[in-house]
Amino acid sequence: MTILLQTATDPRAWLLALGAAAPERPVLTKDAADHFAEVRYAMVWRPPQGLLAQLPNLAVIFNLGAGVDALLADATIPKHIPIVRSVDPDITGRMTEWVVLQALYHFRQMPAYQAQQHRRLWQDLPQQAASAATVGLMGVGVLGQSAAKVLRALGFNVIGWSRTAKRGLGFPVHHGEPELADFLAATDLLVCLLPLTAETTGILNYGLFQRLKRSGPIGGPVLINCGRGGQQVEMDILRALDDNTLVSATLDVFETEPLPVESPLWRHPKVMITPHVAADSDPEAMTAHVLGQIARFEAGRPMETVVDRATGY
Ligand code: NDP
Ligand code: OXD
Repeated sequence: MTILLQTATDPRAWLLALGAAAPERPVLTKDAADHFAEVRYAMVWRPPQGLLAQLPNLAVIFNLGAGVDALLADATIPKHIPIVRSVDPDITGRMTEWVVLQALYHFRQMPAYQAQQHRRLWQDLPQQAASAATVGLMGVGVLGQSAAKVLRALGFNVIGWSRTAKRGLGFPVHHGEPELADFLAATDLLVCLLPLTAETTGILNYGLFQRLKRSGPIGGPVLINCGRGGQQVEMDILRALDDNTLVSATLDVFETEPLPVESPLWRHPKVMITPHVAADSDPEAMTAHVLGQIARFEAGRPMETVVDRATGY
């Protein structure tokens, strides 16, 4: 049962992980076109459009990441082939670290202290307890729920916004367009952990920023986006930072990646940039996840974390 492996970067660590965990399974790369008929499973991250359609016996596609927008954008992929996305404690833990890091960075006013440091200015700024701030999580799926746990343990108020109604998470969750206004009006630090779909494209825009809480402990709202760049309107973020609709922002994802050198975001004093690294997929952890799902598939049991093509995530 041959696996096709397509990674964004150097595949060696993935090949090692696969070789160690499943030495009996042949692994091909996209250059082995002569053997494409042997491929049953594809482990891919943003494969070239059209690649997967060339595999006549492909049974399952394993996305080597949590977000499947790139795969769903490839109209050549036959609709009957299940797509399984990555859900694993490793990737979840990495995202939680990054979200908490950014929430604390802004809440503890690191951008302002950095500016003071450049001026050799020794001056304390007003300091409040985490309980004075509300983190609003757009998206309370696997990653949002994990981040919420740690943020709440630190004392932050946490609220969420999802597509469908949610109860029992231990924090209030608003849902749908009708409840978005209340969610935004209560949010000091807005964290986007949404999948990229038709509904979420461009959602982080100036009109939305204007609806965020203005009276919070750090003098205005903060944007933290680790969902997808297609969710943010970068001109609107710049405008909102320049007129203080937003106090500051951290962006891990961008409309165009890599972020073009000429983007004004690079030099903006109120912006922290990370190069789409909030939660990398670890080869060993992801390989274990994929092999676990293959075992289920081959035993005739339902696979977990299969993408719903209708909702797009
Ligand atoms: P999940 O599918 O577990 O959760 C998605 C959440 O978004 C759910 O709460 C869902 O609502 C909500 N949602 C989806 N559409 C809408 C909508 N139209 N309106 C309101 N809420 C909506 O995904 P994960 O938590 O695993 O991952 C989230 C995203 O994080 C990924 O899709 C990816 O884009 C991004 N990501 C980024 C990484 C990075 O390094 N920057 C790394 C990993 C992931 P409901 O609960 O009602 O279904
Ligand atoms: C993912 C990502 O979706 O790394 O996993 O962006």
